[in-house]
Amino acid sequence: MCGIVGYIGEQQAFPILIKGLHRLEYRGYDSAGVSLINSKGELSVYKAKGKVVNLEEGTKDKDTTGTIGIAHTRWATHGEPNATNAHPHFSQSKNLSLVHNGIIENYKSLRAEMEKNGMTFCSETDTEVLVQLVEYMMNTHKCDLYTAVQLALKNVVGAYAIAILEKSHPDQLVCARKGSPLIIGVGKSDNGRAEFYVGSDATPIIEYTNQVIYLQDEEIAIMDRTGRLDITNLANVKQTPQLVTLQMNLDQLEKGGFPHFMLKEIWEQPNALRTCIRGRVNMVDKDVLLSGIIDHKDKFINCRRIIICACGTSWHSALIGKYFIEEAAKIPVEVEYASEFRYRNPVINPDDIVIAVSQSGETADTLAAIQLAKEKGAFLYGICNVIGSSIPRATDSGTYLHVGPEIGVASTKAFTGQVITLGLLGLAIAKVKKTLSDDIFHMLVEELEQIPDKMQWTLEHNKDIAQFAQMFTYCKNFIYLGRGYNYPVALEGALKLKEISYIHAEGYPAAEMKHGPIALIDEEMPVVVIAPKRGMYEKVVSNIQEIKSRKGKIISVVTEGDTVVRGMSDYSFVIPDTRDCFVPLLAVIPLQLLSYYVAIAKGRNVDQPRNLAKSVTVE
Ligand code: M6R
Repeated sequence: MCGIVGYIGEQQAFPILIKGLHRLEYRGYDSAGVSLINSKGELSVYKAKGKVVNLEEGTKDKDTTGTIGIAHTRWATHGEPNATNAHPHFSQSKNLSLVHNGIIENYKSLRAEMEKNGMTFCSETDTEVLVQLVEYMMNTHKCDLYTAVQLALKNVVGAYAIAILEKSHPDQLVCARKGSPLIIGVGKSDNGRAEFYVGSDATPIIEYTNQVIYLQDEEIAIMDRTGRLDITNLANVKQTPQLVTLQMNLDQLEKGGFPHFMLKEIWEQPNALRTCIRGRVNMVDKDVLLSGIIDHKDKFINCRRIIICACGTSWHSALIGKYFIEEAAKIPVEVEYASEFRYRNPVINPDDIVIAVSQSGETADTLAAIQLAKEKGAFLYGICNVIGSSIPRATDSGTYLHVGPEIGVASTKAFTGQVITLGLLGLAIAKVKKTLSDDIFHMLVEELEQIPDKMQWTLEHNKDIAQFAQMFTYCKNFIYLGRGYNYPVALEGALKLKEISYIHAEGYPAAEMKHGPIALIDEEMPVVVIAPKRGMYEKVVSNIQEIKSRKGKIISVVTEGDTVVRGMSDYSFVIPDTRDCFVPLLAVIPLQLLSYYVAIAKGRNVDQPRNLAKSVTVE
């Protein structure tokens, strides 16, 4: 939520900052702003409501020179999204400018205190309170910026990643974090002099350097052009920076010929999942190797219960994971919305394992849920995509998805990456607990290994969804139905449609229809039914009949060769046959495509849907 970028070095900062903002725009796009110090020592702030292009447009006739700067793209929390509330914010004397990602929870009392001392504020934001507080500390303690930041942050309750410029010290950049991510890129300009980049994630940095430092909670860093990089914590204890080499390339951050990141990421799924399972599935021995499990084998053997905490799409994949882990490893699994779990004083025992599932690894509620579980003594396992993010760093063990950066706000390849990783996890636990016969274990491994090819088949055989989707642009509601492993797919299909087309959609377990929702069915209501020729096929056929007799329009996901459900449907998407537990990996693909093309037909911005942001790093 909100993206921060910063630069200090020999190059012109503005183009680097603007490019960085475009890369971070998936984190928020309500408004954008930039602050620079030019060669005359002037500190400027330019802001615009809306997307980064508006900022570019609005700064065409402005002085955007300078080799130090900070910039921000916002997802509004405090104060409506307009230019006044956009970041960067000035301090009262205009000696400081600051960008912030996070929430300062006690900003009202801090502001009231400063107002009593004669300070005035221009915006409604918690961020302006923070920059004013830093200046207030500088004035009252007669200290330098670095010390003032330390003092200010000690008084702050909440989460922050910040970067600050000081007009009277144009050769230094200061940043800090707690609860919101911040990465420092360490580079060299053409003449060999030091330069530093700051980003909410690695995407604005990777083009210039792959050497980064992940700032830790309550750390403050100061950088300058001599190559100085000092990091201390709030207690002023010097920290040793750990330089990490990023495993990412620029192509992963481009659309690669696709009109949108979402479509690119849908089509990337076969390869993304091949990468995800590479080295983890051994087809010679038909075995699964997950170091996160092997290293903590006893924990999993002795574990009495698994609790999976997640939000949104990750919660849906967690539900599929529950069904599979219970079936394969015979451990009871509970799936919790992290936002509920963290506040309801749950019973957690030391022999529980708490798994956090999160694409970004930064979701505030999921992070808070595992912090609570840690306090209660549970063993923590992370299933995340973004390497080096907060959740993997806070957990005892875990598995990365390795599906590559996901930029589209609507999660697609991360969902299938999570489902297959939870499948690997279930198999790996089943192996150490010996809960599956060798035959069944080997058969599941073989089937899992074929999933990427079957995904490719699914993509190739559903190309006409683009035409078909046009018919549904007039619809105000959709219902999605599935049973067993496909109930979470119904939830996921409905979420995808809602978030990018803004059409209301609900997912239900198919058999629940008759307990109420069937009252909604009429000739206007499209009902998407996931009906593979597996497990509960006959029961789903009955559910379809119930809907048809109320004149609902049936859109089905069927197994290749099926004629019965096909014949009952107004339209069908076809998937290859696979085991029940892996059907979600295939069935979700036509649903992703359906929501994409309906949204396109409605003229929506699928990569940046309204009111949403990719990582929800605030409550
Ligand atoms: O990064 P996370 O997986 O923790 O994010 C959780 C949700 O915010 C996320 O899945 C959200 O629901 C997506 N927009 C769904 O497409």
